[in-house]
Amino acid sequence: MKITKSIKKQTKWSLKEHSKGKKIGLIPTMGFLHEGHLSLIRKAKEYSDRIVVSIFINPTQFSPEEDYKEYPRDEECDIKLLKNEGVDVVFIPEVSLMYPGEYETYVTVEKLSKEYCGRTRQTHFRGVTTVILKLFNIVLPDFAIFGEKDYQQYIIIKRMCRDLNISTKIIPAPIIREIDGLAMSSRNRYLMEDERKEATILYESMKKAENMVKKGIKDVKSIKKEMVKLIESKKFPRIDYIEFVDSETLRRVSTIHGPTRILEAIWIGRVRLIDNIEIRPKR
Ligand code: PAJ
Repeated sequence: MKITKSIKKQTKWSLKEHSKGKKIGLIPTMGFLHEGHLSLIRKAKEYSDRIVVSIFINPTQFSPEEDYKEYPRDEECDIKLLKNEGVDVVFIPEVSLMYPGEYETYVTVEKLSKEYCGRTRQTHFRGVTTVILKLFNIVLPDFAIFGEKDYQQYIIIKRMCRDLNISTKIIPAPIIREIDGLAMSSRNRYLMEDERKEATILYESMKKAENMVKKGIKDVKSIKKEMVKLIESKKFPRIDYIEFVDSETLRRVSTIHGPTRILEAIWIGRVRLIDNIEIRPKR
């Protein structure tokens, strides 16, 4: 497995692989890898001859009051895990290479970036789309895999690629969960023991909604009311948002007619957790 820190070397490698007719799959990450990240690599293998994983904690997607400096890192362990998965290249650029002095160019998916997570994290998605476009220009991937764990991120990246005629195909991968249902996330490690126990409420509340829909209830307001009641019965959680949206457009829905995503963000202590599931109306 090659470890590349140089942008020029990464592009040179990708061009060489393309000239041999090889398809390249990219999995962008911020490191501190867990099973969720590794599942994306396995998915990428279905599509690609060569796999590149990038590890870059992208400063432009963190606001000044967020956890950029504390974001967990363990490069040595990440590299071991990636070697085991049979990854071809790990691309680990320095911040000063990705964002040289006088950096001033950003890409924004205007409306979608302002909704849901974008309401509290106003410049977050601008940072994500900018770094992803930069990574695409460096790695030149045929495919890029994104987890449905960050569903809004996945849809925003798909929209950017469509709007800007980017030829990289965006492939989604399902959410990997702990045994008790909590979606795996690098930020779960911030939870104290008693907070961790209550963190399952995200998934439980969405499962409750799913069961109501299975029973034939379609009115979002009534379903949301039950979800809020359940979450508020716990000690730690504070709701940031619960939204029912069309799975493709992310437009809010008030009645469940077709494939719908429940998007949920809650604070547990000082940790903000997000999750989502897809629900479908009873036939
Ligand atoms: P990061 O949080 O490291 O996640 C990297 C990729 O792993 C994302 O596509 C994310 O959706 C996916 N992922 C994380 N947890 C997952 C889980 N439990 N199941 C399935 N997939 C999961 O998301 C980012 O980094 C950054 O915003 C990035 C896209 C790299 C841009 O900087």
